[in-house]
Amino acid sequence: MSNNKIMEQKKYIKPTNNFTFKRTGHVVRNRTVLAAMTNKQSYKDGTLSNIELNWLLKRAEGHFGIITTAAAHVSKRGQGWKGEIGIFSDDHIENLEMLTSGIRNYGSLSLMQLFHGGMRSPQHLTGLKPISASQNKTNDSLDGITISATIADIKSIINDFTASAVRCFKAGFDGVELHGAHGYLLSQFLGSKTNRRSDEWGGDIAGRTKIVLEIFRSIKEKVPESFIVGIRISPEIKKGGIHLNDSLYLVEALKNEGIDFIHISCWNIYAKSTEYPENSNTLTEWFTKTIDDLPPVITTGNIWSCQDAFNALNQGADLLGVARVGIAYPDWPKNLFSKEYNPKKGPYSFDKLKKAGLGDVFIEYMRLWKGFVLDES
Ligand SMILES: Cc1cc2nc3c(=O)[nH]c(=O)nc-3n(C[C@H](O)[C@H](O)[C@H](O)COP(=O)(O)O)c2cc1C
Repeated sequence: MSNNKIMEQKKYIKPTNNFTFKRTGHVVRNRTVLAAMTNKQSYKDGTLSNIELNWLLKRAEGHFGIITTAAAHVSKRGQGWKGEIGIFSDDHIENLEMLTSGIRNYGSLSLMQLFHGGMRSPQHLTGLKPISASQNKTNDSLDGITISATIADIKSIINDFTASAVRCFKAGFDGVELHGAHGYLLSQFLGSKTNRRSDEWGGDIAGRTKIVLEIFRSIKEKVPESFIVGIRISPEIKKGGIHLNDSLYLVEALKNEGIDFIHISCWNIYAKSTEYPENSNTLTEWFTKTIDDLPPVITTGNIWSCQDAFNALNQGADLLGVARVGIAYPDWPKNLFSKEYNPKKGPYSFDKLKKAGLGDVFIEYMRLWKGFVLDES
């Protein structure tokens, strides 16, 4: 079917309508997705804590269609923050089983986000020198310049993502989301500025995409057909050298491999390409309007009101990712039956956030997000 016809049909979809992943048959009860949110509430060894369990289950109880975990490091070397959830060991599985069964009991689907920070995984946390596609400058002045991954390193990164996906399957997740966005390791391979390799893992966009494709293929060999495997991407990262055309290439390539969804991280669903400002397409529309037979699309960025949700669907997205509004309003999806729903943006009091199921550590972290937590001092 032509893109125009598909876009025309999508105009009649409501945020409260269910959605079926055609390949696997998974039914999502509505169009809402709790996007991955690092909340720093896991135990030191990366196991899921009760407080993190409850934070996520409260959103399943609030009728989110899909619950995504925070970015979970696939190896010790890939950890980006203190209190980050891990999936690098079989020891993580037991607590995660409580999460996946709880989410299922509330009627939502569960995804774990698989993550490696690369040049943004500081040594003071991991005990290991940061690694990247090339020798790149780290954020941490103590770490200086990263190691440039050898072929053996690349193979073990692929294995780490694969083993982690298998653990997710064993823990009962419906699927995984590869974190290919926001400048972390997979983005560092995708970007021409952070990947200056001259071997088959770098160079042109085909080379820079190779690690993502190999991870996808490797995971698919090891998990059952019924397991969902998708990816989150940033359409453009100027600083890292990821251009819109690179992202379109990547999505086309992943489509041909049979990926189950593409999650476009826009930060603002109304934003246009910074490279083609004269074009009226939003970032999401660059994908939905130009690629035929696109896999299901999740779009995320500044969706708060019911009208925003409709607008994102009108851009051709199938599913709506939200982060901040899902922190303040755990039952946000239940309100989408009302077209006028327009929840108040922050700042929110400590008490409100506590009632919404956030632990003290998470609330403190949210103070870094400008205007989110009320300053009551
Ligand atoms: C506290 C917080 C933690 C986040 N952690 C992650 C993360 O672990 N992985 C990720 O891909 N994005 C992460 N993000 C980005 C969100 O998933 C989302 O894309 C972004 O906040 C924009 O959506 P929003 O406008 O609905 O908040 C985080 C955002 C917030 C607010």
